[in-house]
Amino acid sequence: MGEMSAQTFFITTAIDYTNAPPHIGHAYEKVLADVIARWHRERGRSVFFLTGVDQHGQKVQQSAEKAGVAPAEFARDITAKFKALWQKLGIAYDGWAETTDPRHIAAVQDVLQQLHDQGDLYKARHSGHYSVRQEQFLTDKDRNAQGEFGPEWGEVVFIEEENWYFRLSKYRPWLAEHIAAHPDFVFPSFRGNELANAVAKEAGDLCISRPKSRLGWGIELPFDRDFVTYVWFDALMNYATFAGYRATNGGQLPDFQQLWPCDAHVIGKDILIPAHGIYWPIMLKAAGVEVMPRLLVHGWWNLGGAKVSKSAGNVVDPDALADRYGADGLRYYLMRDIATGQDADFNEERLKARYNADLANDLGNLVNRTVSMARRYREGTLAGAPSDQSEDAIALQALAADAAVRFDAAMQNYQVHTALDAVWELIAAANGFVESSAPWKLAKDPALSGRLDEVLVVLVEAARLAAALVHPVMPRAADELLGQLGFAGNLANSWGAVAAGHCVGEAKPVFPRLETDVAA
Ligand code: ME8
Ligand code: MG
Repeated sequence: MGEMSAQTFFITTAIDYTNAPPHIGHAYEKVLADVIARWHRERGRSVFFLTGVDQHGQKVQQSAEKAGVAPAEFARDITAKFKALWQKLGIAYDGWAETTDPRHIAAVQDVLQQLHDQGDLYKARHSGHYSVRQEQFLTDKDRNAQGEFGPEWGEVVFIEEENWYFRLSKYRPWLAEHIAAHPDFVFPSFRGNELANAVAKEAGDLCISRPKSRLGWGIELPFDRDFVTYVWFDALMNYATFAGYRATNGGQLPDFQQLWPCDAHVIGKDILIPAHGIYWPIMLKAAGVEVMPRLLVHGWWNLGGAKVSKSAGNVVDPDALADRYGADGLRYYLMRDIATGQDADFNEERLKARYNADLANDLGNLVNRTVSMARRYREGTLAGAPSDQSEDAIALQALAADAAVRFDAAMQNYQVHTALDAVWELIAAANGFVESSAPWKLAKDPALSGRLDEVLVVLVEAARLAAALVHPVMPRAADELLGQLGFAGNLANSWGAVAAGHCVGEAKPVFPRLETDVAA
């Protein structure tokens, strides 16, 4: 496996607003991207995983005002919270984007100057309704059936002001053609259809500035110093600037030519239209970048059917959940209970139940009993696989090979939950093999000693493969399990690791069973 690709697989995620601490939706997105990144690395591919924070804009300025601190200080504090959470959750990113980084600011200004010079920007006076929460002007099509701007827009104010506009309309025909010609542009495809419909319907240009009189916290327009850059234009550019685009002092930034485009550009469904599906490709095209990223659009975790929003964020604080269930317990739940592209309901009871059933009982117990029996019956040292294998051993090996193939096929399509289903079939079969082969009976009869050797080898093989497969999802727990099996660092996704004389380590519970009132 693991054919080396010359190309580095580039994964990036939406950058998170620093107007409030991270919530479960942020954690989900980062875990999803991290799991995909780890899986590619473990199959021998070179990966660059970029993530970071969106530090400018009105929301951050307002939150800072409320907190009574300067926006820079506020953004710095929240940024530290995000970084600490990613560390705690084992998010192994290679590049970190902060939009207050001078390298980013210089590159954004360079792009703006180019767009200005080539006539893609113009200044105009506009009056209209403005959503403070979404930081955008609204039009009549944003009104609901009652003719009002619904609560999703937050506070809506009427303003009249002069601003700079980007000629999106000029590039719309190109975008419509690009979407039609590249069915892979957006995953899942139903989101691509939504985007195509939106592109066909929408008209008008994009306001890319905010007067400094109203918003100081942003990147100054290089050609008109009374204005700062609209936060989305600034933030969207991060995917290119932190990949080395237009880097002037980018010694530590990647080589853009080598890295571009993003192979998996992970975003939530709320920011496909218009930001990532319309503004972003058009910004790239206008700036002269011809190859477009591949958007991977995930669904949302809902809370009792309602959106997990910043206000509800405290209810499902990922930091506290990682304390209760372990970072890997949380990662597992977030990957197992949602289909990538669909929504799911967050439910802590389900998390707990899955932890106890899948991790403590199934996976944890398989490794624990396997290592314990190898120690009890063979003092921890295994004989090699027999040349003449039993039928049930051959069957389990075939099932394991199939699970490994299905795992990779599902991961190729970002369906982590399906990949995990395949591993849990292997785990269930291996636990069934323990029951049917009954090593404790074999141990009592010296005539069955060869069979006991075989059973122990088969169990260590199956348990090691299961631990190796789940490694991208639960890296620390899997490392621990592999260590106990005597296979630290062996992530091969195939059978056949055990050689004669292999020594297992010590058996220690990796997923201690939770009492049912743990979250009370
Ligand atoms: O949108 N479930 O930042 P953000 C799943 N700064 N994903 C969720 C979610 C939920 N309940 N809630 C949010 C922004 N997300 C901008 C992005 S990129 C140039 C700028 C996802 O902090 C959301 O879909 O509001 C987005 O992908 C990410 O979290 C950051 O959301
Ligand atoms: Mg958002």
